[in-house]
Amino acid sequence: MSASAAEQTQRGFVGRDTATGEDFCPILGFDHLELYVGNAKQSAAYYCHAFGFECTAVRGLETGERARASCLVEQGDIRLVLTSALTSSHDAARSVRRHGDSVAVIALRVPNAEEAFAAAVSRGARAAAPPAIARDEHGELRHASICLYGDCVLQFMERRAYGGVFGPGFEPAPETPGAAAPASCGLLAVDHVVANVELGRMNEWARFFSRVLGFNQLVHFDDEAISTEYSALMSKVMQDGSGVIKFPINEPAEGRRKSQIEEFLDFHEGPGVQHIACRTEDIVDTVSRLRENGVEFLHVPDTYYDDLEQRVGKIDEPIDRLAELGILADRDEDGYLLQIFTKPVEDRPTLFYEIIERHGARGFGEGNFKSLFVALEREQGLRGNL
Ligand code: FE2
Repeated sequence: MSASAAEQTQRGFVGRDTATGEDFCPILGFDHLELYVGNAKQSAAYYCHAFGFECTAVRGLETGERARASCLVEQGDIRLVLTSALTSSHDAARSVRRHGDSVAVIALRVPNAEEAFAAAVSRGARAAAPPAIARDEHGELRHASICLYGDCVLQFMERRAYGGVFGPGFEPAPETPGAAAPASCGLLAVDHVVANVELGRMNEWARFFSRVLGFNQLVHFDDEAISTEYSALMSKVMQDGSGVIKFPINEPAEGRRKSQIEEFLDFHEGPGVQHIACRTEDIVDTVSRLRENGVEFLHVPDTYYDDLEQRVGKIDEPIDRLAELGILADRDEDGYLLQIFTKPVEDRPTLFYEIIERHGARGFGEGNFKSLFVALEREQGLRGNL
């Protein structure tokens, strides 16, 4: 899918230099997330049939690519590129061996990739890939990448001069005889992308987003705010000038037992993306569809709903329906939100998804942290990792 004219003329979000007020890193939005997986074809089938994505483009031996195979799956404005290696020496093979299936690239749409890269590097980012131009008969795609936590990279993507399907090397996905098109589950956009980093590294990464991209800190949760009987964690949320791009960063805190963040770091073998939150405007319908498709969610105790209305006030959705589906609610000064978390979507207890519906609220469900983490620890105990 090419960028629309409206997107291209959309005003960039502001990464301002605090001293000069200069807008040094305008960002237009999330472009896509690339996951390195063991088998792109099978992952795409899972995302399509369980989550309601549609496979729209492919890259591989049939399209002239010799090193890797990719499927682009889309739903609303969410684009996931699922990539697996065709040779053992490709980065995707090394990544899967170490991390299992995981997010390798977070791509942000920018008006000028070269300028974004130069600004980031001059502010202390480590280069992952210098500015490059990919060309085909549909135009030019300009991109450059900087290193993020773990093996993740942040890619700047400039689509102004490209009109083809996703990018050079990709072709529209062929129609598969007998395969019905999956029904959308109503997922609209990426709301936030959360990282888990090692003990003591959260502040370093918060400073990175502030210094390199001009993000500011939206909120800070200390270990008092996020603790259970057994474990604790700390979190800072960094956002761009408009509040559209949000990157929460978690680190483990001292606790009696192993925290969910430590479990992630052990099985992911290092820091990386813990969850991707996807926005919907009808979470009841979205979660009903996902459950019908076999997506598994964290279980919250029935008692969570007993005093929900006292805790969050009046909400539009019937509470018995939220209880049936296991959807959580929370309120902040700007409004309320509804959210639910899947179980990890691979064998390792690593990457999972959040589904979120916002009614004004700009937070992350702080009121749900405690019940959520108790639920996470129950799962962790069942895996023998608590
Ligand atoms: Fe989240």
